[in-house]
Amino acid sequence: MNSGKMYKAFVVDSSDSGTAGAVKELNHSDLPEGNVTVRILWSSLNYKDGLAITGFAPIIRNLPMTAGIDFAGIVESSDTSDFSVGEHVILTGWGLGERHPGGFSQQARVNSGWLERIPDGLDAKTAMALGTAGFTSMLCVLALESAGIKPEKGPVLVTGAAGGVGSIAVAILSNLGYEVTAVTGRHSAYTFLKSLGASNIISREELCSNNRKPLMSERWAGAIDPVGGDILSHILSELKYGSAVAACGLAGGSKINTTVLPFILRGVSLLGVDSVMCPSSLRRNAWARLATDMPKNKLESITVVEPMKALPDLAQKILNGQIQGRVVIDVNS
Ligand SMILES: NC(=O)c1ccc[n+]([C@@H]2O[C@H](COP(=O)([O-])OP(=O)(O)OC[C@H]3O[C@@H](n4cnc5c(N)ncnc54)[C@H](OP(=O)(O)O)[C@@H]3O)[C@@H](O)[C@H]2O)c1
Repeated sequence: MNSGKMYKAFVVDSSDSGTAGAVKELNHSDLPEGNVTVRILWSSLNYKDGLAITGFAPIIRNLPMTAGIDFAGIVESSDTSDFSVGEHVILTGWGLGERHPGGFSQQARVNSGWLERIPDGLDAKTAMALGTAGFTSMLCVLALESAGIKPEKGPVLVTGAAGGVGSIAVAILSNLGYEVTAVTGRHSAYTFLKSLGASNIISREELCSNNRKPLMSERWAGAIDPVGGDILSHILSELKYGSAVAACGLAGGSKINTTVLPFILRGVSLLGVDSVMCPSSLRRNAWARLATDMPKNKLESITVVEPMKALPDLAQKILNGQIQGRVVIDVNS
């Protein structure tokens, strides 16, 4: 029915000069298999998109591929009773923009099991201001809560604090009453982090300055870490008795250097967080909590909107640690 209709998408491909992406016109007949077609309103920029667009890591399995690991939009047609035409939906993960054409597009056709309804309290744009990064921040908060980390237990640490996952984690934790210490490599971000609710700010160098021993003075009741590498190694040695760190990223490296001592002498927990294959019940809970626990004025203050044609530049910037807060991608401008 729509076979003659065209739509725009940001397609990544490889050539002799490397991997790169550009905005292309595609035909509806190019849409993949799936039982729901969505008119996309907004997508967002995440670290993984930077890796995919530059080809810095093999995120996309088969090139050419429409990039973008999340989107929010309106159901345009549905072959299932689970979703009706006109409903507002979000999709994050499930291989979107990796194995399945992604969210940097005006159209998507997907499996209904991957979609979530946008919860009350959010609209399509705020849902993408949160996006995969905010969703992951909330998964980390839920993981800490499940491990019994309450505000009265003491200060919690958030690393990569000026980035997407980090800035939203700072705002949510502070809103929930936690005393938040933010770790950043950017001196220019101190005012920004204070405005999100950080009580204290320390530099990456300061966190890692002491000669690290397997166990250091106990400082943190919990931590959210999108950075990994040396920073995560260091956090583990400074966690208080019975505390936990939610590890979700590798912006600073994938290798950690630790011993079993924090685990067996202080009973600390290393909690792995994955947003891609996360089960639907947990997704629903996380999105509902985002709608209530992330202050809207703070979300607005950390978000900028950019068009799809800016993606090559944005991809390089996010890998260089030069994106502050969140970038919503307007797929229709
Ligand atoms: N597990 C999951 O399902 C999941 C989901 C979403 C994201 N992630 C991961 O989480 C990480 C953050 O994603 P994001 O979208 O928030 O990216 P982002 O906006 O670029 O934030 C990453 C932040 O990490 C810090 N950083 C960057 N390079 C660093 C380095 N070499 N050493 C130490 N710190 C560094 C920077 O913060 P400062 O400037 O403040 O220091 C940067 O802003 C990525 O590794 C991403 O793949 C995982």
